[in-house]
Amino acid sequence: MSNPDRLIIFDTTLRDGEQSPGASMTKEEKVRIAKALEKLRVDVIEAGFPIASQGDFEAVQAVACAIKDSTVCGLARALDKDIERAGEALKEANSGRIHTFIATSPIHMEQKLRMSPDQVVEQAVAAVKRARNYTDDVEFSAEDAGRSELDFLCRIFEAVIDAGATTLNVPDTVGYAMPDQFGETIRALRERIPNADKAIFSVHCHNDLGLAVANSLAAVANGARQVECTINGLGERAGNASLEEVVMAVRTRADYFTCNSGLDATQIVACSKLVSNITGFPVQPNKAIVGANAFAHESGIHQDGVLKSRETYEIMRAEDVGWSRNRMVLGKHSGRNAFRSHLDELGISFGSEEELNAAFSRFKDIADKKHEIFDEDLQALVTDAATKAKNERVKLVSLKVCSETGETPHADVVICIDGEERADSAAGGGPVDAAFKAIEALVNSETELLLYSVNNITSGTDAQGEVTVRLERGGHIVNGQGADTDIVIASAKAYINAVNKIMEPVEKAHPQGGDV
Ligand code: KIV
Ligand code: ZN
Repeated sequence: MSNPDRLIIFDTTLRDGEQSPGASMTKEEKVRIAKALEKLRVDVIEAGFPIASQGDFEAVQAVACAIKDSTVCGLARALDKDIERAGEALKEANSGRIHTFIATSPIHMEQKLRMSPDQVVEQAVAAVKRARNYTDDVEFSAEDAGRSELDFLCRIFEAVIDAGATTLNVPDTVGYAMPDQFGETIRALRERIPNADKAIFSVHCHNDLGLAVANSLAAVANGARQVECTINGLGERAGNASLEEVVMAVRTRADYFTCNSGLDATQIVACSKLVSNITGFPVQPNKAIVGANAFAHESGIHQDGVLKSRETYEIMRAEDVGWSRNRMVLGKHSGRNAFRSHLDELGISFGSEEELNAAFSRFKDIADKKHEIFDEDLQALVTDAATKAKNERVKLVSLKVCSETGETPHADVVICIDGEERADSAAGGGPVDAAFKAIEALVNSETELLLYSVNNITSGTDAQGEVTVRLERGGHIVNGQGADTDIVIASAKAYINAVNKIMEPVEKAHPQGGDV
């Protein structure tokens, strides 16, 4: 058994997080996020659901190869084919975990599975035994445990521990639980299951009633020693428990909790920004820990108090979770080594030397246009460079827009498609609209624009704009990103990035949907 004072942080941003409609990530993006999570010292990274699609399988495989310090986990229903696929995807992992699950609530067993409780127990036991052929680290989840009967949970958990499960997960799949009751459930399970001491109790809470973090913390107070959570609370429907809130609550209230995580909290803000940027899901300004206003003291009374003694109104320090004060970090004379080591401090690493070179050359371009380069600029340019280094089918060659009072905006665009340059022009309601129409005339993607959002990365009129474009075609949703000091160019880059992603074929099954 592991140290009872240690709270294991299991991050499922790449799996449950990706189940947020529109938050799909490419394999390369998943590897980048996984590396940032490793730097944050997350214990377990759930990298995906390998049977869902070839893309998911390859993403879990790529994360398993890239990550050395965290355990990499693959999700599998309690079915042989799922477990085999997960075992195969995790073959190269330094430390791999198979997470298998089956629903245990009366409504799920009767309506979804159409199985009797005896059959469910039998299938769960068989799945755990099968998973143990691939790894000693096997997690079992009782899906919809929040609405399951306690006696049945005790029965199935006892059986899967005997079969070799080392972590027992209690998911509140539909976000129905109340903190007191949920905490009591964890306590009762630990007390009533005879072999409970042979496994770690884990929770996985959804946020449908805004209680995911509260329920997770109630479980921790009652002996759960693993929390499943996501960066920025991303996840199916209203999301999962937010990693940063769970970790900082347990750390800040060390007087209340008898355990702590081993995370390097100074990496939290960098991870949050990376996930937000890649998925196109913005972080609300008043979001705890990672919102732009989380540490801003507006009222005069608060400011006065904080100046006299910061503890009067601050329970955590902004720098402890990785907020930097918009300081100028690099300039146009900074060299490649300074650039690389500063990105390293920010928790940003590169998939290849080619990506580093592309990022450095992009940095030099921006440094020519902008006197002060901040951490936020560096983060954005890395995303931009990762896109550039990838061998994408469509590339922006040039863009010229004309926007004049009283005249219809007009764009001339040149792009390269599969190595061949093509040009077109279009008029539009504004310069961005004209640019998108000109690009669309060339690529004919037949997509619908679901989201166009612009975020200025730092303050000032010379700031880079970071644009997210979300496109949909036949139910397939992708996010494209682009950053530039010129908003129209950033927009065109984001549109082209999304078009490249939509051209990659995907067929993906949902873990909690029907059979694959
Ligand atoms: O919410 C849920 O029940 C899940 C399981 C697969 C753990 O995501
Ligand atoms: Zn879930």
